[in-house]
Amino acid sequence: MKALVLAGGSGTRLRPFSYSMPKQLIPIANTPVLVHVLQGVRDLGVTEVGVIVGNRGPEIEAVIGDGSRFGLRITHIPQDAPRGLAHTVSVARDFLGDDDFVMYLGDNMLPDGVARIAEEFTTHRPAAQVVVHRVADPRSFGVVELGPEGEVLRLVEKPAEPRSDMALIGVYFFTPAIHEAVEAIEPSARGELEITDAIQWLVTSGAYVRASRYEGYWKDTGKVEDVLECNSRLLDGLPRRIEGQVDTGSVLVGQVVVEAGARVLRSRVQGPAIIGSGTVVRDSHVGPYTSIGRDCLVSDSRLEGSIAMDEATVTGVHGLRDSLIGRAASVGTTGRGTDHHCLVVGDHTRVEVAA
Ligand code: DAU
Repeated sequence: MKALVLAGGSGTRLRPFSYSMPKQLIPIANTPVLVHVLQGVRDLGVTEVGVIVGNRGPEIEAVIGDGSRFGLRITHIPQDAPRGLAHTVSVARDFLGDDDFVMYLGDNMLPDGVARIAEEFTTHRPAAQVVVHRVADPRSFGVVELGPEGEVLRLVEKPAEPRSDMALIGVYFFTPAIHEAVEAIEPSARGELEITDAIQWLVTSGAYVRASRYEGYWKDTGKVEDVLECNSRLLDGLPRRIEGQVDTGSVLVGQVVVEAGARVLRSRVQGPAIIGSGTVVRDSHVGPYTSIGRDCLVSDSRLEGSIAMDEATVTGVHGLRDSLIGRAASVGTTGRGTDHHCLVVGDHTRVEVAA
């Protein structure tokens, strides 16, 4: 079996971050989402991986390379524009050949793994096997109607009035039967070739399509709130590891990771939390549920439930919470005795100050 990992697309819901980086490289517990995805693929025993990339291909390639670091052989497959999930299958046609494959969305986190579901696919070998998860509001997902035996009756992409609460989540298993379906469908009302429509085409033509329920933790990291929630969830599972320097004036409580080369001075770090290599935390209170990337400075500040990406600076700011701070961004104060805010805010940025 091969894997097709989707790391193209536009990521408009993750602005402003998606202006400067592909959304699949957003760090969760200091590791890009796409790297978590590739680890999930490797855990299925798959080594041949095609990665779909859009106009940010070079940045993706700089991070994942040829995959040897993860024990994978990665082929980078360019897609000229985000023309839909089914379109990616057709641009990967030569790479996929006549092999079965797992298609994995590069912005979906399934940390509990889908090994059991992969085994079900190999045992039953349906034309397509989708993975579903019950959600409270299915309107922003592909929705599946299941029959009494769990068979797939109908699939609809982002319906305004969902007829089931079973959402399609970011992993699909296919035999080469999917290629005929992808060739047969037309673009949807939003102008994309939908994989949901291709799978529906298989159902309508009488092919065997099954659904497996995934009961573990799942998050589509397409929105800022989801990135922060997922970060908290992953930090919860991190074992304590202190490799950097922690001075005697500092206290580390619970599951804390201080990477090699990081320095924690006169500070309190409340786990779960991770401090990246090259970062300095001084006179501050960090955590819980906080990831600080590499080469950051956190000074005289207090932050929790947040992510600061590589090279970010936070100085003199207390009570920072549920915040996502981009690469090399700086958050500071206007100085003692001043009573105004001074903001340099990029396009589609959100700033919330205490009332
Ligand atoms: O998260 C689960 C949902 O993912 C499913 O319930 C939907 O049925 C499915 O269509 C998909 O919906 P999204 O709107 O979340 O898809 P998104 O545009 O975010 O694309 C998913 C991934 O695929 C993302 O990593 C970007 C990549 N992609 C997307 C498109 C449209 C590509 O590589 N090429 C593309 O043309």
